Amino acid sequence: MKKMMIAAVAAMALGAFATTASAKPFCATCHAGHKDKVGPSFEKVVAAYGSVDAVFEFLNSDAPLEPKVAEFASKKNTMKGQLKKYRKLNDEKKAEVRAWVEEQIK
Ligand code: HEC
Repeated sequence: MKKMMIAAVAAMALGAFATTASAKPFCATCHAGHKDKVGPSFEKVVAAYGSVDAVFEFLNSDAPLEPKVAEFASKKNTMKGQLKKYRKLNDEKKAEVRAWVEEQIK
């Protein structure tokens, strides 16, 4: 119970941070919510994975990149290095990336 409350408070603190801080993660260079840039829109990525949860399950795992967005599969090497960079972030930064992604696909 106590653990759950701590988690809830932490989530609230993160939420507050995500809405007040507009700092974009480095992903923004190549991704947007509804528009393709260097990489596919997050809308397409989420559609390919089925859910935001599934996307972050992959990102937070150590599974190799096997592009699911067929249209962009040939650009896999561009994302590969970015994935490495993402996986080195601490949990707080990863949560910020997720909050930002969710904001983009609204
Ligand atoms: C230098 C450009 C670049 C940056 C920066 C970048 N990406 Fe990507 N991303 C790509 C490209 C190109 C693809 C398409 C190739 C692929 O799917 O592997 C892609 C694909 C993806 C995919 C789909 C992978 C799949 O299975 O098809 C996800 C999820 C993703 N990016 C998330 C992120 C996140 C989160 C960040 C920031 C932490 C990020 N990207 C930063 C270029 C970038």
